[in-house]
Amino acid sequence: MLKETLINATEAGAKVLQHYFNSKNLLISNKEGINNLVTEADHASEKAIIDTIKEQFPNHFIMSEEVGEIKMDSEFKWIIDPIDGTVNYAHGIPICCVSIGLEYNGTMVMGAVLNPFLKEYYFAEKGQGATLNGDRISVSAEKDVLKSCLVTGFPYTYINQPNGPLEAFSRFIRAGVPVRRLGSAAMDLCWVAAGRFDGFYEHKLQAWDSAAGFLIVEEAGGKVTDFAGNAYSPYQPHIAASNGKIHDDMLKWINDVA
Ligand code: IPD
Ligand code: CA
Ligand code: CA
Repeated sequence: MLKETLINATEAGAKVLQHYFNSKNLLISNKEGINNLVTEADHASEKAIIDTIKEQFPNHFIMSEEVGEIKMDSEFKWIIDPIDGTVNYAHGIPICCVSIGLEYNGTMVMGAVLNPFLKEYYFAEKGQGATLNGDRISVSAEKDVLKSCLVTGFPYTYINQPNGPLEAFSRFIRAGVPVRRLGSAAMDLCWVAAGRFDGFYEHKLQAWDSAAGFLIVEEAGGKVTDFAGNAYSPYQPHIAASNGKIHDDMLKWINDVA
């Protein structure tokens, strides 16, 4: 029932994304930072997702980007990003998705990421592996960080932090390492899981950006940590996700100790 509800909720959100995509009259407003957008599609997707979850599990805790926390005394917590990649979405760029993670007693046990435009459905259950549209996926085999294809993201604020996102980016680019910037952390993580990227890092994510994606990477055989190499928690900002083989070297480059 949990898995079915997760799938139904993800699909309900994705239907909303398709409905409003490229709509000329899409209502868009600003959050913190000048281009940190929220659209009516974010709110409608969030409502469709939360209604679907609440119908089955009215007593579960919910944490969702736009409404915040719906606190409940429950072992289950649903962590929702109703659109990850809103700036892309608002510009008609189909690199965006619905992302939902489910925690049980503080451990992420299931994650789903659905991009309805690319028709890619990523799913993972703890200990059961990760899939793309039902087929098992696994991370890449690259061992050399300097031969890797990486992806990163830039937060709307925090950009001027010492040794921040631009410095790390510049180090990789100067070394000739291709570093992409897709604009959706959940897609970034799923594409590491699928072996398209060898690694992903970002300096300031929120729990809903990575909740589903980090489990999908781990279940695809990858490694996810903070920048010190500690076990990953989505409740702190730094994320480094990789195929595992380049992980330590990627961290050295990020931390400027390579
Ligand atoms: C953003 C995306 C982006 C990342 C930002 C996030 P949103 O999420 O994941 O890739 O760089 O840090 O805030 O605002 O589109 O849900
Ligand atoms: Ca997000
Ligand atoms: Ca979002």
